[in-house]
Formats: sequence, C-alpha cells, structure tokens
Amino acid sequence: MKFIIFGAGAIGSLFGALLSTKNDVLLVGRKEHIEAIEREGLKIEGITKGIFHPKTKWDGSRYDVVILTTKAYDTKKALEEILHKFGKIPVLSLQNGLKNEEMITEIIGEEYAIGGITSHGATFLRAGKILHAGTGETVIGELNGRITERIEEIEEAFNTCGIDTRISTDIKKEIWKKAVVNVVINGLTSLLRCKNGELLKSRHAEETMEKICTECIEIARAEGIGIGEEIIDKTKEVAKNTAENISSMLQDIMKGKKTEVEEINGEIVRIAKKHGINACINEFLFKMIKAMENVRHLG
Ligand code: PAF
Repeated sequence: MKFIIFGAGAIGSLFGALLSTKNDVLLVGRKEHIEAIEREGLKIEGITKGIFHPKTKWDGSRYDVVILTTKAYDTKKALEEILHKFGKIPVLSLQNGLKNEEMITEIIGEEYAIGGITSHGATFLRAGKILHAGTGETVIGELNGRITERIEEIEEAFNTCGIDTRISTDIKKEIWKKAVVNVVINGLTSLLRCKNGELLKSRHAEETMEKICTECIEIARAEGIGIGEEIIDKTKEVAKNTAENISSMLQDIMKGKKTEVEEINGEIVRIAKKHGINACINEFLFKMIKAMENVRHLG
C-alpha cells in the first residue's frame, strides 16, 4: 500500500519505518528530522532496531491513506494542509485525544475518516533517531463500524510489517479507552516526572491511577460509552508494557514544548462539567499540569 505519515514525530516515524519495509511510505515531518533521514536514514533503537529508508519527497503520485500522527492541538492545521496538498484522501488518526476523527469528518469528509489508536511507546531521541520503548496493540476501525475493504487492507499491511493490529467495530469506544489510559499515564507521569512503569512501583500512585479511572468510567458512560472496571487493568497493562517509555506529555514538558494536556486531561474535565459530574481528581491533575507550565521550579 501507499502510506503518507503526516506528523512524523516519535510514533509516526516508528510506524513509517516499520511500514516502509513492505510498502511505499512518504514521511512528512519537521525539516531537521526529514533532513537527517535523508542524510543517514531513519534510525530506530530499542525493541525495533535498524535503519529505514522511507521516502521524504512527494513525487506527485496518489497515495492510499494518510496516517495522521501530529499532536492533537495541530490536527485542524494538519488536515487543512493535507486537503490542500493531497486532496480528498482517507485519513487514519493514530493520535491522542477524543476529537481527531470529528475534525477529519469536518475538514476532509465523513467517508475519509478512519479511527485508530496505538499503545506503542516511542521516544524522539534526536532528529533522525527514535527509541521504540514499549509495545502494545494497535486498533483501527471505520467510524460506522463496517468492515470495509480498505480497513482490511490497512490491517493486513500493518500486521505484515510486524505492527500487531486488529479491527474494531466500535472504534469510538477504543478511542475513549485509549484516552483514559492517556489521562492517567500521561497525567501522572508528568506530575511525578517518571517513566510509565514507575507508576506501578508506588501504592499511592497505583491507587490514584484507579481513582482517576473510576471517575473516567462515569464520565464516559454519561457520553454513552460503555467502559467498565476493566479499564483499570488495561491502564496498568499499558504502563507495564511501556514501563521504559517516557510518556509523550512528559517528553514535551522536558523539552519545554506545548503539551496535549488540554486535548487529553482538559477534555475529560470539560465533558465531566457538561454532565454535572464531580471529577475532582481529574480536575486536580489537569490544573496541576497546567500550573507546571507557569510556576518556576526550584532545583
Ligand atoms: O502518549 C503516550 O505516551 C502513549 O500514548 C502511551 C501509550 C501512554 C505510552 O507512553
């Protein structure tokens, strides 16, 4: 298949590298990263090891699917660019956040929107070099739940390249489950400044993880999304499988970059408010991460 990876940061570059072994892959990303790949290839360390050679220049040909991996706060801008450059093309979001598919629908069109989530953990080491720090499943699905030819083709292409992937007929629920995982792991690791796996080493952190999940279950249900207690084990499983990863939010904080806290933790708090749900732990977590952007740290 022919894939465009739009927003080739840590996760996008990892997917681009793996898919490029058997597909035509065009990477679109930051100038320094793309230039480093053009000079020395795309280097992946950790669970996946190797130097990969995806394309970095568009030859004007038609591609099958765009895999969108930008930060959630950049989705709108990215989609406008995609539409302008590549025209109407199916877009599979593998981003964090709850609103990406809605934006694809609005900007490109309903029939072009494909939902997806991935629990792989990847760290951007430097331009041209990514650490594959944790594995996890990837789930994709049509927003209407149908098993279409294109979704089967993408699933096969992913699995053939070693990206463990399944199709869901309820991708909205999967996206919510992933959002809860991000609310907990990204939120708490940012506050505690630790790798994902550390959350399981403290009874206090683990209990807090459970409490945040419990609030999220109520919030999801108010939105008509049937998530149950199993999300607690799921969140712990992701923390275990990505134990050595620095969550994307903490990576951003450490680099002094804008985080996805508004799109992840902020969104959950806003939905809770809309339904009159008291989500005080989520609110505390969100406010503390926001406060970290402004207060001067000692030491
Ligand atoms: O955003 C992240 O960092 C990732 O979604 C995950 C799966 C929590 C791994 O760090």
